[in-house]
Amino acid sequence: MYLTCSTIILAISVAATRVAATPFKFPLPDGFPNPNPAQLAKIEKEAGGPLPDGPLPTVLKSTGVTTLQLLALNEIFEVAYFTEFLANVTNEVTGYDAKAIAPLSKQYVIDALTAVVNQEQLHAAGVNGILKSGNQSAIEPCEYQFPVTNFTQAVVLAQTFTDIVLGTLPEAQAAFAADAGDESPLIQLFGGVLAQEGEQVGFYRFVQKKTPSAAPYLTGGSPSFAFTAIQSFIVPGSCPQPLSNINLTTFGPLTVVTTPEAKNQTLEFVVPGAVSPAANSIVYLTGANVPLTVAISNVSTVAGMSHFTASFPFESGFANGLTIAALVKGAGQTYKTNDAVAAATLYGPGLIEVD
Ligand SMILES: *[C@@H]1O[C@H](CO)[C@@H](O)[C@H](O)[C@H]1NC(C)=O
Ligand SMILES: *[C@@H]1O[C@H](CO)[C@@H](O)[C@H](O)[C@H]1NC(C)=O
Ligand SMILES: *[C@@H]1O[C@H](CO)[C@@H](O)[C@H](O)[C@H]1NC(C)=O
Ligand SMILES: *[C@@H]1O[C@H](CO)[C@@H](O)[C@H](O)[C@H]1NC(C)=O
Ligand SMILES: *[C@@H]1O[C@H](CO)[C@@H](O)[C@H](O)[C@H]1NC(C)=O
Ligand SMILES: *[C@@H]1O[C@H](CO)[C@@H](O)[C@H](O)[C@H]1NC(C)=O
Repeated sequence: MYLTCSTIILAISVAATRVAATPFKFPLPDGFPNPNPAQLAKIEKEAGGPLPDGPLPTVLKSTGVTTLQLLALNEIFEVAYFTEFLANVTNEVTGYDAKAIAPLSKQYVIDALTAVVNQEQLHAAGVNGILKSGNQSAIEPCEYQFPVTNFTQAVVLAQTFTDIVLGTLPEAQAAFAADAGDESPLIQLFGGVLAQEGEQVGFYRFVQKKTPSAAPYLTGGSPSFAFTAIQSFIVPGSCPQPLSNINLTTFGPLTVVTTPEAKNQTLEFVVPGAVSPAANSIVYLTGANVPLTVAISNVSTVAGMSHFTASFPFESGFANGLTIAALVKGAGQTYKTNDAVAAATLYGPGLIEVD
């Protein structure tokens, strides 16, 4: 993992070498994921507002179900993350003490993270409520581990995975729109959630002294990229329901070795399998651009891992903030949509944060 204040890269596969800490387990002291009415009222108070009180859809199509399962899996992971983050700050764990969070005050950070923890609990409860209303099983919590041990790293990781959510929610809205019918009101509902997550990213960026709003158009995603990324925080085998119940693809890990900067450069990547310039390419998703395919070269094998390079032409119109890299099948192919890239992906997402 390569993290600096101004430029970071989060190589998802590096999470596999995470520090051995006690895994995070549910339930929470406030009853989540199954709070009683009094506990729910307290969660809503601390979240700054309640769950939606309108009727929920009762008829969900299969794409809508998959989309909601992914969103629930993500929101529950976020509850775990922000609960542990809040506890680290509250208890002044090494790396999360007053000096580490300066110039912010401890109370301000506690208040901000308390709001987020409770808001994420309601996001998770809301999505699971829709699944249940649609006669589907709710998503249950797994156990989690996070590759961060200080405040700066924790904020950078929060920004990165929330950036992925910002790219995933528009895809969710498109899926609800395509399904239509009972799912139509979910388009507006998740528009509100999308904006809420954007408010959060503005704060995580502000803490790092980055411009709060990264770019005019943020990087999109594809559901299987988010699904793969979330799994790097889940303790393998700890989910009560098989993850294969969720009809998405889990890709192999793509590690971005070079620390990316806001300039044209060559990046080194690593994957745990054979690659060749004739059979594979790197594709970048950045801003609202059409996917950009670049050739790979300089392939070498070290201890069973393929190392290779590809150009990262940041100055040719990349967006600040998140860029997603994917190693795809085929050389020189172009893709019109992020979903078409995901369909061709072998390894990814490589998560690149610049500025
Ligand atoms: C909280 O601190 C522990 C101990 O350093 C660390 O293992 C864990 O990853 C941290 N979690 C978060 C979300 O900051
Ligand atoms: C709800 O799901 C169960 C189990 O999948 C099924 O047997 C039942 O018919 C479903 N009910 C409705 C109203 O779709
Ligand atoms: C946070 O931890 C990372 C990885 O150990 C380290 O490189 C970085 O300097 C630490 N940052 C602070 C502010 O302590
Ligand atoms: C899983 O998704 C694919 C499209 O991505 C679809 O063709 C298939 O029917 C889905 N399977 C189920 C069980 O819904
Ligand atoms: C191959 O590696 C060299 C040395 O690291 C680098 O200068 C060059 O740009 C790489 N070629 C490509 C096409 O990535
Ligand atoms: C960056 O790379 C792109 C694509 O190769 C190229 O068109 C552009 O001129 C380069 N910009 C600079 C400043 O080198």
